[in-house]
Amino acid sequence: MKPECILINKEVQQFVAHIQLNRPRELNALNTLLMTELRDALQQLDLDDSVRVMVLSGNEKAFAAGADIKEMAEKNTVDMYREDKFSVWDAIRKIKKPLIAAVSGFALGGGCELAMMCDMIVASETAQFGQPEIKIGVIPGAGGTQRLTRAVGKVRAMEMILTGKFISADEALQAGLINKIVPVELYLEETIRLASEIARMPPLAVKMAKESVLKAFDTSLEDGLAYERKNFYMLFSSKDQKEGMKAFIEKRKAEFRGE
Ligand code: CAA
Repeated sequence: MKPECILINKEVQQFVAHIQLNRPRELNALNTLLMTELRDALQQLDLDDSVRVMVLSGNEKAFAAGADIKEMAEKNTVDMYREDKFSVWDAIRKIKKPLIAAVSGFALGGGCELAMMCDMIVASETAQFGQPEIKIGVIPGAGGTQRLTRAVGKVRAMEMILTGKFISADEALQAGLINKIVPVELYLEETIRLASEIARMPPLAVKMAKESVLKAFDTSLEDGLAYERKNFYMLFSSKDQKEGMKAFIEKRKAEFRGE
């Protein structure tokens, strides 16, 4: 069935898929249907050999203005607990292929959290990031207090989360929240270019690199190093390792197949 709240282009470039959040009238507010469709699409693309990297965008005005406030305004604690909305987010966190956010306009609340759950963020010069939940009586619920703090440090995260104020693309770049800023008319093109560059790398090594970097966020250095080493050794069972090293020695371009 065709999704209602997202658009999927499975081959925007070779090996690169693009998912666009598509509730423009609501500034891409992340309702339950959108998040479920996004999870389903990402899980399918994660298993599809013709896709190596995924790009996630909104539109020029908004990446996403947060969780859908109208959908949750009347809920009580038991409703929230029973619906367990964030289990969808947990599934997205487990996607193995790189996911790059192309952010223009508002990335607020759950929108900022969704961008931070991606592996990299390319922003247009109009991008604004914020965790304004405090202004509506709650706190970030999809990882904002944890991921923002890890990305920009304690004092900046405290200021954003306690005041709800937005930061510009320039401030986000300076704080280490995003990878780069691109003129608004080029932000999607540039994100797809970055995705294509990664899609030319050996896919198994790319997945293991992602997995190993993410491990750094929830383990000790000792355990993280052991994890990295195991993944490094494991790649010596892949044909792409043989091809990559042979191609280097033979001074030719490697042909990676994800095997
Ligand atoms: N949920 C539901 N609807 C939203 C929305 C949201 N998060 N953000 C915007 N909209 C809707 C507006 O209600 C409006 O709809 P109507 O035309 O039907 O009234 C439409 O999108 C356009 O929005 P505005 O008229 O407000 O546009 P603006 O340009 O004047 O302001 C804005 C833009 C500053 C982003 C403002 O819309 C805003 O503050 N939005 C809410 C941001 C927010 O608080 N996000 C956090 C949500 S909670 C959360 O995300 C929890 C979590 O951690 C998971």
